[in-house]
Amino acid sequence: NNDTNISHNDAAISLDFPKGGGRPGLGHDVQYQYQGFWCFAAGIEDIKDFQHNFKALDTDIVIASVPKSGTTWLKALTFAIVNRSRYPCSSVSKNYLHHPLLTVSPHDLVPFIEFKHLTPEYSSPVDSPCKLIATHIPYPSLPESIKTSTINCKIIYMCRNPLDNFISLWVFMNKLRAMPANTENNPSLPIEEAFEFFCDGVSEFGPFWDHVLGYWKESLDNPHKVLFMKYEDLKKDPKTHLKRLAEFMGCSFTLEEESQGVIEDITNLCSFEHLKNLDLNKDGTWRKGIENKVYYRKGAVGDWKNYLTPQMVKRLDCLMEEKFQGSGLVF
Ligand code: A3P
Repeated sequence: NNDTNISHNDAAISLDFPKGGGRPGLGHDVQYQYQGFWCFAAGIEDIKDFQHNFKALDTDIVIASVPKSGTTWLKALTFAIVNRSRYPCSSVSKNYLHHPLLTVSPHDLVPFIEFKHLTPEYSSPVDSPCKLIATHIPYPSLPESIKTSTINCKIIYMCRNPLDNFISLWVFMNKLRAMPANTENNPSLPIEEAFEFFCDGVSEFGPFWDHVLGYWKESLDNPHKVLFMKYEDLKKDPKTHLKRLAEFMGCSFTLEEESQGVIEDITNLCSFEHLKNLDLNKDGTWRKGIENKVYYRKGAVGDWKNYLTPQMVKRLDCLMEEKFQGSGLVF
């Protein structure tokens, strides 16, 4: 584990843990606390760079989320929506086979800013009418230029119920732990241990509740700037929520598009079953040997029922009730 890259004199990084300021957590890397959230060392370096150097443009759209809440899906949807004139999404359109989502991972089309060390050439290979970028950084730690531009440079936040989020994260992290580069120091994490980390808030970019509440509050205070989406809502009623997304991004669907079935075409193009079964996502590899398929598991609501004991559910429910009390946010 590479916990020596962090400067121990950096006051922003927790020094509570003697071994270089880091501690084990739900992630596959040593976790550091930076500005109140937990992250791996290389991520923190990229985040600092982003915080100091990023200058938001009016046309930028930031896709924000806590890991495993449906980021890949939201990236695909926003990309398909803003680029729909250039890249038609209907499978009967003659240009359909040129659609970038058929051959390029949503993570390359809408790159994560904090994984610059994994994706040095992190600008999207496709020129969009607006720049889509993604981040897991909590709201208070976003670069000032994103936060202070009052209307333009919009943020779309995706959140998911904590029970499913936890299961998705635990399975994902164990897949990363099983990668050849990581296995030596990272045996698979039993669910009980992972659950303790999650409830302690030591999950990637967590605590989960702080992350969600940061964006939730901002979406209430400034609804033109931050759109708050829920994975479960999108699953239940994609049409309504795709319309919300398009309107928010300033490219509403026309009546003609609606009658032509453009919303359904985008829903189908970006559906879990469709993306999961593309060759790109079955056999392709993203950065540092991470296989694309790890981003597509079950894509279901309520999978936690297959893993969590009643005691775990009760504990997490109580914890979330306590943390979200008075916020108006319910899962
Ligand atoms: P599960 O592990 O519950 O299946 P993220 O993209 O933030 O890493 O989140 C990954 C979760 O979103 C995984 O959940 C994954 O299967 C699900 N997912 C990926 N693509 C999806 C899609 N197109 N539609 C719905 N869910 C999707």
